Amino acid sequence: MDPKEKIERSRLLASAYTTSSLLQSEQAINAQIELLLGWLDEHAASSKPMDLSKFFTFIAYDIMGEVIFSKSFGFLERGGDIEDSLRQGLAFGAYVAVLPYFPRLQGLLVSPLFAPLFRLVMPSSYVVDRSIRALEQRKRDPDARFDYVAHWLRTHEEQPDRLTAKDVQAAATSNVSAGADTVTCALQSFTYHTVRHPTAWRRLQEEIDKAATEQHEQQQQEGEPSQDHPVFSFAVAQKLPYLQACIKECMRICPPSTIGLQRVAPRGGITIGDRTFEAGTVLSVHLPSILLSEELWGPDTHEFVPERWLGDDKKTAALDKYFIPFGLGYNSCVGQNLVRIELSKILPTIVRRYDISLVNPEQEWSYKTFVAAVPGDWPVYVEKRGVH
Ligand code: HEM
Repeated sequence: MDPKEKIERSRLLASAYTTSSLLQSEQAINAQIELLLGWLDEHAASSKPMDLSKFFTFIAYDIMGEVIFSKSFGFLERGGDIEDSLRQGLAFGAYVAVLPYFPRLQGLLVSPLFAPLFRLVMPSSYVVDRSIRALEQRKRDPDARFDYVAHWLRTHEEQPDRLTAKDVQAAATSNVSAGADTVTCALQSFTYHTVRHPTAWRRLQEEIDKAATEQHEQQQQEGEPSQDHPVFSFAVAQKLPYLQACIKECMRICPPSTIGLQRVAPRGGITIGDRTFEAGTVLSVHLPSILLSEELWGPDTHEFVPERWLGDDKKTAALDKYFIPFGLGYNSCVGQNLVRIELSKILPTIVRRYDISLVNPEQEWSYKTFVAAVPGDWPVYVEKRGVH
């Protein structure tokens, strides 16, 4: 899409993505986190291994449902996949990652001649179908929460020619896919890496316990009713340096999105390193090449070292320049504020409430990479700590 057109479209959708607007869904996000805690509690009580990777995927999808349509997809309530949609989503990820490299084949497959046949072999998606249904319900429900769709429908009503009903549908479905697989990857990377680094896990627990106690004492001094709630406060979590360093490091060491969106070489072409690309060449940045470059991050680039984000402001500002898990510029990720809220609420809540250990401490996790990295295969034991 032409950059000018793209910027114009992004502007029409942007009001939904602000932190203040997202925080209107905070109670709904909390409710999803409490459902997740229910499953962790159950596994803690039974002492059975837990495939936390799956539950992180469930919560990532269900929160997307809540913030977009005020309706979760229901994965967490069920504690399992629905209509095989997550497994089929993986196949769809492979298609999205590979087919754009073969534009002629792609054009053929979506042409009127082949599209009906292609649809038969393509994985049908409960998530996409459910998103479209939820969108239709939302249109008939003016009293629902002020979620993403409410923002977009308002813009559509005001400027139907600039943001069409089809644009709203495309935005809703693409946000679900863009926001769920990436967030589960970040949640998994954080937990997998901190659990494998017991010093990091303990340091996190100390920081989070201290913050929770201080908040509790402050509320008592000010005579406020204590906010004893199992879900950690976003406002407090944002200010915890070690937690935020671990969050950054987990997205650096395992970039949730592996490729950036397409860019087009400008008139006159462009030279990157020792290669020149003609004007009009479609390019994309492979994010792990930047986020794991030894030249930029040093010889310990493949190590989980949250400390690299602490201390000297000048040093961390220099690193920030290369910290691009969300891409850069006019195409950069519109979901960053939501990611901050999700990670800053879910992760400290879990670290504070449980001790987690890998079932197979020697075994490294495995992950597949399409557009998003899809980790798995790191079962854990969960133990409940003596806090609420
Ligand atoms: C850890 C989580 C996430 C990561 C690492 C991530 C990363 C990215 C990256 C690298 C891009 C392409 C940027 C570029 O080419 O410069 C992107 C685009 C996008 N992301 Fe995210 N994302 C995450 C979560 C989310 C969430 C939660 C949402 C939804 C609220 C979302 C919605 C989108 C959309 C809609 C685009 C396309 C932007 C556009 O077309 O303008 N992402 N994301």
